[in-house]
Amino acid sequence: MNVNNRILVVGANGQIGLVLTAALRARYGTDQVVATDIRPATNPPAGPFAVLDVLDSQALEQLIQDYNINQIYHLAAILSARGESDPRWAWQINMEGLFNVLEAARLHKLKVFFPSSIAVFGPSTPRDHTPQHTAMEPTTVYGISKVAGEQWCQYYFQRYGVDVRSVRYPGIIGYQSMPGGGTTDYAVEVYHRAVKGEHFNCFLRPDTRLPMLYMDDAIAGTLALMEAPPEQVKIRTSYNLAGMSFTPAEVVAEITKYFPDFSVSYQPDYRQRIADSWTQSIDDGDARRDWGWQARFDLPAMTQDMISHLQQYYALTQV
Ligand code: SER
Repeated sequence: MNVNNRILVVGANGQIGLVLTAALRARYGTDQVVATDIRPATNPPAGPFAVLDVLDSQALEQLIQDYNINQIYHLAAILSARGESDPRWAWQINMEGLFNVLEAARLHKLKVFFPSSIAVFGPSTPRDHTPQHTAMEPTTVYGISKVAGEQWCQYYFQRYGVDVRSVRYPGIIGYQSMPGGGTTDYAVEVYHRAVKGEHFNCFLRPDTRLPMLYMDDAIAGTLALMEAPPEQVKIRTSYNLAGMSFTPAEVVAEITKYFPDFSVSYQPDYRQRIADSWTQSIDDGDARRDWGWQARFDLPAMTQDMISHLQQYYALTQV
């Protein structure tokens, strides 16, 4: 392996993990990136892979030694909606998993990426242009684990000098992979339904505005943060990131420009309460200033790109 980037991805088969692992391999070389997940992938891409339960610190240690790892992207977590079905289990996976990674990073001087989320925000947070430094009183166990996780990352940086970097992802939308267990998942499913010509039943109210980000921007931002010179990374909890903000009604209106007969119904469930506790738009001025963050995709550009890729994927004829 090349000496500079020997990367372990934890949770490599998740929504972000699949795409980020491919991007890291394209950038640094297939063999430089070891993908791990609790389960093997259905169609595994070329490159090193190991099954890893993030609660197994010894197995993590072994992989770090075997592959001489110097960076970990720690993506394994139970998301907002799924976490509510078993809060203590979600807490255990999210927190112990992070501790295992941070401890390994301390011992082996590894660089770490930790994804935080807009789920750190809660009802007491300003809802529009949510500032970087603000009230964070989340209502979900996922949100609580991300607030605590951010603080632990900063602690490991300040106390032990661990180079840990983080962003608060909005809802992530991409054609490459499916999300699981989140509150923003509807915004991926809606595209698949439209392209397949199926009815879409939305689990949020049509007017629920949430911050979102296209996958390509999320990946570019993550790589930019991880490659930034350390002195530019001034925030060691987690950076706000903004892409776009929209409601289900707005994304449906955009999709309807391509599929005029798209049929949609709304049946809010327990996820509505989670969405209502989050903020609507994000101020990402610190990320822009410190390491040059800038999202490229807005709702129309994303919709065009999603639809054309999904049409290829489902092998449909061009609209
Ligand atoms: N997409 C995530 C969720 O909905 C937010 O980080 O849980």
